Amino acid sequence: MKSKIEQLKKDALHLLEKVTDRDNLEVLKTELLGRKGKLNDLMKEMAGLADDERKVIGQVVNELKVSVENAFGEKERSMFHVEELNRAEKEWIDITAPGKFPASGHLHPVTEAIAEIQQTFEKIGFSASRIPEIDWDYYVFEALNMPGDHPARDDWETFFVDEAEGSKGKLVLTPHTSNSQVRIMELQKPPIRMVNINRTYRRQSDTTHVSMFHQFEGLVIDRDITIVQLKGVIDYFAKTYFGPTRQTRLRPHHFRFTEPSFEIDISCGVCNGDASVACRLCKAGWLELGGAGMVHPNVLKAGGLDPEEFSGFAFGWGVERVLMMREGMNIDDMRVLYKNDLRFVKQF
Ligand code: DAH
Repeated sequence: MKSKIEQLKKDALHLLEKVTDRDNLEVLKTELLGRKGKLNDLMKEMAGLADDERKVIGQVVNELKVSVENAFGEKERSMFHVEELNRAEKEWIDITAPGKFPASGHLHPVTEAIAEIQQTFEKIGFSASRIPEIDWDYYVFEALNMPGDHPARDDWETFFVDEAEGSKGKLVLTPHTSNSQVRIMELQKPPIRMVNINRTYRRQSDTTHVSMFHQFEGLVIDRDITIVQLKGVIDYFAKTYFGPTRQTRLRPHHFRFTEPSFEIDISCGVCNGDASVACRLCKAGWLELGGAGMVHPNVLKAGGLDPEEFSGFAFGWGVERVLMMREGMNIDDMRVLYKNDLRFVKQF
């Protein structure tokens, strides 16, 4: 019996050594130490032995049990340790590694230009107004000194809304932001210092025109407003938006709603306003910015103001145009701004 015990011990330790996973370890444990296991079989066999022999063998079997149990304990601990090491290796993360930034877009260059233009004027006391971009013929033309079938209206290739007509004429997709002039006079009394930036619409599409674009309209009305202040504001805008070396000049022009009227030119950023060089961008050192002038007495009257008491100036320029005129922009076709081509937009 003793040799049987010895053999069992040898076999047990040998099998235990070969086990590599927990499932097989459990199986082996029940085979040896379980209720119906080999050790219990030995115990049962002992029942048939004589008293003194049973005593001796009993001790040996007990020792066997303890050493097998210990061996199992040892094996379990070392398996657990290896498992922990593997898990630590698999689940390891570098908590000091920099995070991954989610992809984020940015504002469209035209949206940025609108915000910048608005802030530029707000700094000198203009307040931003949002006047309707679809408005009555009255505010768009009539109140701006362009009655009924006046040929000046032909300058604006206008979209009309067919269905709607009211006491102020047809509804118009505003072809310029000048409708804000009489609108704001109806809303507030002088002093008025307003900038209205809005979408405008015309039947046009080429490299320097799109059918939906933006204008910003400035209007100042108070007592004793003269061309001097107009020139000051234009200079301020040119130097702030385009750069401190830029000059402006007023060129006589004609608009029905201003008298006198001007085209505003700004010195070219490429040749620095040098008329003697052949510049790829400008004509003789100057670039055209847009229209301006002293508010016509009839427009003041339409806004309920006495032209003897109040005077004012106005200007209306294209957002896309000033954006494209900015140094280094290099946009030679305005339509690309609205093509939704990310390769273009991402450059800004
Ligand atoms: N509304 C004119 C246009 O779109 C531009 C303009 C000219 C606006 C003179 C003004 C102005 O306020 O005084 O062509």
